[in-house]
Amino acid sequence: MIVNTELEHKGNLFPGKIISFSQDVDKLNFITENGVILQITILRGSVIRFRYATDKNFEKDFSYAISESGARGYSKLEVEEHDAHYTIITSRVQITIGKSDIKTIIYDLEGNVVCKDDWGFHWEQSYEYGGNIVKMSKSAPLGECYYGLGDKPMHLNLKGKRIENWATDQYAFGKDQDPLYKSVPFYIGMYEERAYGIFFDNTFRSYFDFCNERRNVTSFWAQGGEMNYYFFYGPNMQDVITRYTDLTGKPELPPLWALGYHQCKWSYYPESKVKEITGRFRELQIPCDAIYLDIDYMEGFRCFTWNKEYFPDPKRMVQELSEDGFKTIVIIDPGIKIDDEYFVYQEAMEKDYFCKRADGPYMRGKVWPGECYFPDFTNPEVREWWSGLFKEIIDEIGVKGVWNDMNEPAVMEVPGKTFPGDVRHNYDGNPCSHRKAHNIYGTQMARATYEGVKRFAYPKRPFIITRSAYSGAQRYTSSWTGDNVATWEHLWIANIQAQRMSMSGMSFTGSDIGGFAEHPTGELYARWIQLGVFHPFCRTHSSGDHGNQEPWTFGEEVVDVTRKFVELRYQLLPYLYTMFWEYAKDGIPMLKPLVLFDQNDPQTHYRTDEFIFGNQILVCPVQEPNAKGRRMYIPRGNWYNYWTREYTKGGMEQWVDADLDIIPLFIKEGAIIPKYPIQQYVGEKKIEQLKLEVYYKLGSKEVSSVFEDDQDGYGYTKGRFSLRSFSLTGKENQVIIQQHKNGSYITEYDTMKIEIIGLPFKISQIELDNVSVTLESLHFDDQNNTIVVPKDFTELHISSK
Ligand code: GLC
Repeated sequence: MIVNTELEHKGNLFPGKIISFSQDVDKLNFITENGVILQITILRGSVIRFRYATDKNFEKDFSYAISESGARGYSKLEVEEHDAHYTIITSRVQITIGKSDIKTIIYDLEGNVVCKDDWGFHWEQSYEYGGNIVKMSKSAPLGECYYGLGDKPMHLNLKGKRIENWATDQYAFGKDQDPLYKSVPFYIGMYEERAYGIFFDNTFRSYFDFCNERRNVTSFWAQGGEMNYYFFYGPNMQDVITRYTDLTGKPELPPLWALGYHQCKWSYYPESKVKEITGRFRELQIPCDAIYLDIDYMEGFRCFTWNKEYFPDPKRMVQELSEDGFKTIVIIDPGIKIDDEYFVYQEAMEKDYFCKRADGPYMRGKVWPGECYFPDFTNPEVREWWSGLFKEIIDEIGVKGVWNDMNEPAVMEVPGKTFPGDVRHNYDGNPCSHRKAHNIYGTQMARATYEGVKRFAYPKRPFIITRSAYSGAQRYTSSWTGDNVATWEHLWIANIQAQRMSMSGMSFTGSDIGGFAEHPTGELYARWIQLGVFHPFCRTHSSGDHGNQEPWTFGEEVVDVTRKFVELRYQLLPYLYTMFWEYAKDGIPMLKPLVLFDQNDPQTHYRTDEFIFGNQILVCPVQEPNAKGRRMYIPRGNWYNYWTREYTKGGMEQWVDADLDIIPLFIKEGAIIPKYPIQQYVGEKKIEQLKLEVYYKLGSKEVSSVFEDDQDGYGYTKGRFSLRSFSLTGKENQVIIQQHKNGSYITEYDTMKIEIIGLPFKISQIELDNVSVTLESLHFDDQNNTIVVPKDFTELHISSK
C-alpha cells in the first residue's frame, strides 16, 4: 500500500482522551484511553521533542541524525493542569495539550500561536508491513511561508508544494522534480515574522505537504516508524537553523585547500591526460587546488583498485601532482563487483558484510562494474572494515579526498532504481528493512569513508563529498547536487539548491559548474562560474559526453572571466574560511537567502535569486543569455557596489549593470572584508600581508571577523587559531577601527594593508594605539586611501583635521 496523501483516511485512527500524565525529569508522558502515548522531551527552552506511540510502547530510541555533542539543558520547566488542557512552560515557549484529543498548541511567551495541531497526530495501521503510517497535520495560517528540506529544485518558499523524501538517483533531473538524491526532513515555517522549525526524524519514505492538499493545513507523514519530531522556536530564522544544526551536528573545519577551486570530469585518464589538465591550469594561471579521478581510474570499476595501464604508478603521480599544488580526489562507489578474485569482495563475503534479501539471498544489483553486492553500511562492523580499506589510497598513495557517489543507493535497470524494500539492514543493532534504511544508507557510507580518510590522513583533515545524504550528514561530509544539466534553468536550480542546503544545515554544498549532462555555451559557463565561486563547494564537473568543460575549451574571453572569478575566490579565502568556522562552531548557514538575512522585510519572503555570502556580501547571478545586467532586490540597509564602489540604498529593486565579466555584488556598509593575495593553490605563497577592505559607514559599530589557523590539522581545536574581531565606527570626519584578538596562533604576516572605501573626507591625521603617527610612516596612499599598519594594532583613529 502506497500512501501518498495525508487525507486518504479511510483507516485513519486518532488518539482518545488523556487518562494519565507523568513526568520523569525532562520527559512528560501523556497517555490516552486508547493507548497512545505522547512523550514530550524538553531538550532546551526552545527545542522540544514530540514522540508518539500507538500501542503503549515506544520503539528503541535510536537515531543516526542526532548528534551527541548538541547542547542540552533548560532553565525552566513548569507543568500546569487546567480543566481542558495541560500547559507546559519553558523559558521560551508555552505548550498546551488538550485533554480530550491530545492536540498541541505551541505559543511564544507573549501568547502568539507559533505552531498548532490541526488534526494533530493520527495514523493508519499498515497490514502489509506491520506498524503504522504515521501522520501529523498542523494549521497553516494564511501568509505562512515554508523553507528548507535539502536539495529540492523548486522555489525556495515551499508554500503550495507537496514534497517526498526518498533518496533517488535522478540523472538530468528537472525543475520541480522530486524526490532527488537527499532526504532532509527539516523545514522552517514563518508567520508574521516569527520563525520555527520542524525536524521529522523518521528515515522511512516521508512526505511534507505545505497547503497543497488542504489550503489551511501543512502535514507530514511517513510510511513507517514513529511520529517523532523536534520543534525549534526562533523567532529568528537563523536561530531555528542553528538549533537544528546543533541537534543534528556540525562539521569539522575542512582543510583550507578544500575551499579552493576543484576540477573534475568523467573521467580524466590516463595519467598523461591528468597532467595535461593540471599543467594547463598552471599555464593559464587559473588557480586550482583539486583534481578528481572518476570511475575509470579503477580496474574494471572495482573500488580500491587502480587501472595499471592508465595509472602505472599512482603514488608517484599523486606525489608529482601534489608538488604542483594539486590534491588528488578519487571516487568510491558502494557497489562491489561480484568477483571471486577481488579482495574487497572476498573479504566482505568472508565476513558476511553484504546486504541480503529478506529470505537470505544477497542483494544483487547492476552498477558500473556490472553485477554487484553492497556493503551494509548501517552495520558498525562493516563501517569499521570499510574505513580500513582506505589505508592504501590515503596513507600510501597520498590521495587527499574521497568522493562517494551512487549511494542512494543507485541500482541500474530496475524499477525504483534502488534496492527493493525487503532488503535487510543491521541499523546499528536495530535490524530492519530497506524501507527504513534507504534514506540513511548514503550517509552511513559517507560516515564510514570519513572515518577511514580521517584515520589515515591524520594529523591532516579529511575531505569527503557525497551525493546522497540524510540530516546529520554534515558531520562527516560535503555534498554536491548530482547530475544537473547545462541549461540556464539549471543555473537557477543550482542557486536555489545551494541556498536551500545552507538553510538545511548542510552549507558545504555546490553544483556541477557548467552542468553535468549536455554541454554549456561559453556564456552559460561564464555565468555559472561567477555564481559557483560563491558556493561553499566549488567544482566544475561534466559527463564529458558532449565535449570538454575545462575553462579553456570556451575560448579566451571565458578563460579571462573564469580566472577573474576564481582569483576573487582565492582572495576571499580568509572571508570564506571565517564563514566556515562560524558554520562549524555555531551552525550559522554560510549562504543566507534574503528571507534569512532580513525576515522582517516581507519583500524577501518570495525572493529566490539574491543571497548573502557569509554575512556581508550580496550576490545575485545573471541567469539568462545576452544580458547586460539584471533587476535585483537590494535588501534593506546601505550597500556598496563591489565593482563600481557606488553607494546605494537598499529596500528596493534596482537595475544593476553586469556584462559577461561581472556578477552583481554588493558589500554591506561597515563591513571589513579580508583578502589574501592571489595564489595558484592554497599554500603556494607565504601570506606576506593581510588586506582589509573597509567599507565606510556613518554611525553605529559594525563587527567583522577574520579566523585563521594552520589551514589544516587540529591545532585550532586546542586554541591554536587567530580570531581577529574588528569593529568599525564612522563619524563625519573620523573612522575608528578597533581590533580584538583571540587565540594563540601567530599568523605569517606582520602587517595589514587597510583600504577605506567610501570615505567622505580627506585623511590628514592618524592615531595608532593612541599615538599620533605620520601618514608616511603608514605608507599612506591618498589615491587609493590605503595605509599599512602592524597586524596586532588595537585601535586606529583615521580623521581629517
Ligand atoms: C554519477 C555521478 C557523476 C559521476 C558518474 C560517473 O552519474 O553523479 O558525478 O561522474 O556517476 O561516476
